[in-house]
Amino acid sequence: EIYRKNKVYEINREAALFYYKNLLDKKNGGLNYLLKRGLEIQTIKKFGLGYAHEDWEQLNKYLLCKGYNQNEIFMAGLVSEQKNKNGYYDRFRNRVMFPIINTTGKVIAFGGRVLGDFQPKYLNSPETPAFNKGNNLFGLNFAKNEVTQKHQIIVVEGYMDVISLYQNGIKNVTASLGTALTKNQANLLKRYAGEVVIAYDTDTAGQAATLRGLDVLREVGCKVRVLRLSQGKDPDEFVMKKGKVAFLEEVDNALSLIDYKIMLLKKENDLATTEGSVKFVKSITKILKGLTSPVEMDAYIKKIALESRISIEAIKSEIYGNNKYDR
Ligand code: UTP
Ligand code: MN
Ligand code: MN
Ligand code: MN
Ligand code: MN
Repeated sequence: EIYRKNKVYEINREAALFYYKNLLDKKNGGLNYLLKRGLEIQTIKKFGLGYAHEDWEQLNKYLLCKGYNQNEIFMAGLVSEQKNKNGYYDRFRNRVMFPIINTTGKVIAFGGRVLGDFQPKYLNSPETPAFNKGNNLFGLNFAKNEVTQKHQIIVVEGYMDVISLYQNGIKNVTASLGTALTKNQANLLKRYAGEVVIAYDTDTAGQAATLRGLDVLREVGCKVRVLRLSQGKDPDEFVMKKGKVAFLEEVDNALSLIDYKIMLLKKENDLATTEGSVKFVKSITKILKGLTSPVEMDAYIKKIALESRISIEAIKSEIYGNNKYDR
């Protein structure tokens, strides 16, 4: 199994170099696409971006020439088998390529984006001996060295979010690759960062993934905050338009887990009505029960009392149980 894994690393590295050289060939359109999106050559090099040609067997032929056998190339997920089993064709065609590199510097997989508005927008490597999507994060190979004194890491959805932020000087960034954050990814983050800031897309999918991500991170014992962009659909769009300082301000304004949930519950419930404030307090006290710090508990109870106009005593007894009403 280790042999197979190393073989995939080796073939992927070869493919990444091949894709990179293709990108620099201007007639292919890949470079132009990335430049149009605002990326600089230096950034493209840093992330080792590439281009997969529209031909059906360019990469396969190249790798066979390099001495890899067909089974190995297939195992690396770089080719698919023809339906009639008569041969293999390149999995990635006419896409800009994003190598996914693990924390030890191995190319474990690729993501490829179409140059236009076609589906699927992104295609990733399949599961291989070297790649399990839920166990890895894109860009962590760079981000792990950039976690500052605050030990903070920003988690975004996509490749372009990581790369644009990086180019704009925000380098403690990694992407969960579109999936809701898995427990393994959360544990990986915890290894490098004391605090995780979730900065997912502003659409409903992104916000739903935020909620799930929060729970997963909390379960593994990570400190979490949530950044909700005031403008733009994702961090890439935001930082390209507004720049580094504006994005860092958004990071500063990121809400704590509980403040984020309070914010959501305030939207769900009309606090001007009795029914609304009762529901609000009942939901939020369920979450507060998980708090271990008495200081935080006290601060949040006061805040909720103020928002709901329900007494501190009543909120406390909702949290601690009626028998402790007079504590
Ligand atoms: P988004 O749809 O938000 O893409 O998916 P994006 O990164 O903003 O794409 P651009 O800016 O249009 O290029 C976020 C991430 O989800 C995964 C990719 O990792 C993507 O970066 N994804 C998305 C897929 O794997 N497949 C898809 O078809 C779409
Ligand atoms: Mn051609
Ligand atoms: Mn999205
Ligand atoms: Mn996006
Ligand atoms: Mn985007």
